[in-house]
Amino acid sequence: MSELNLILLGPPGSGKGTQGERLQTDFRLPYYATGDILRAAVRDGTKLGREAKEYMDRGDLVPDEVIIAMISDRIESPEAADGFILDGFPRTSAQAEALDAEMDQLGKRLTAAILIEVSDEEVVRRLSGRRTCAKEGSHIFHVEFDPPSKEGVCDVCGGKLTVRDDDKPEVVRYRLGQYHDKTEPLIAYYEDKGILRRVDGQLTPDEVADRIRALLATLQMEEQL
Ligand code: AP5
Repeated sequence: MSELNLILLGPPGSGKGTQGERLQTDFRLPYYATGDILRAAVRDGTKLGREAKEYMDRGDLVPDEVIIAMISDRIESPEAADGFILDGFPRTSAQAEALDAEMDQLGKRLTAAILIEVSDEEVVRRLSGRRTCAKEGSHIFHVEFDPPSKEGVCDVCGGKLTVRDDDKPEVVRYRLGQYHDKTEPLIAYYEDKGILRRVDGQLTPDEVADRIRALLATLQMEEQL
């Protein structure tokens, strides 16, 4: 496939970050996870971080204009010339339309929007046991489903594993509501464009990764026909 421009879509806790990390390794493409970028900005105490923190702690979406500017810079950068993986963006209709306009301007097209489907009950189960690396936020574990070799320690870099502030049960429920209201309409949006691909996210992380690899292989074959 000449260029692979992917979106990972799905509710909080569906496994976008877990699969994004694998896809990044498989395809060696830049991986832009808006949540990770924002959390790094909060950790570093930047203007963006200070602006975003209160929204994130409540489980609210950060304003569209802030997020769109943040992602546009990255998509336009030379490292994204051969493709990119977006996790957590777009999340509203305004963000999806801005991404389309940006892609048109750059003469690029989206390859697929991969929807990782899981139930609300599963989301709550997963987020209550999630642990993320304090050093490298993109390394993700689960106390039951994907435990680290040594309790509380990141297998990848040895960093301390912590619970995200927005994984408190009441915030998780609110984030799910935000997903249903503001992000779910994007499923129809990408379905209409013919690029939506659904994956059963209730399977194990390895099985989900295999399904995603299979669907990307199919897309590659279709492109060669
Ligand atoms: P963000 O960080 O993007 O949060 P999210 O979309 O809610 O997604 P999560 O990171 O919670 O879950 P995930 O799908 O990546 O699942 P994971 O792989 O970790 O955003 C955070 C906040 O930033 C937002 O609330 C908002 O404020 C702001 N923001 C971000 N983007 C924005 C935007 N575009 N616009 C406006 N605001 C924005 O997996 C979850 C757990 O399950 C882990 O413990 C994992 O080990 C486990 N797990 C994963 N897969 C499986 C499996 N198959 N089986 C069993 N367990 C599994």
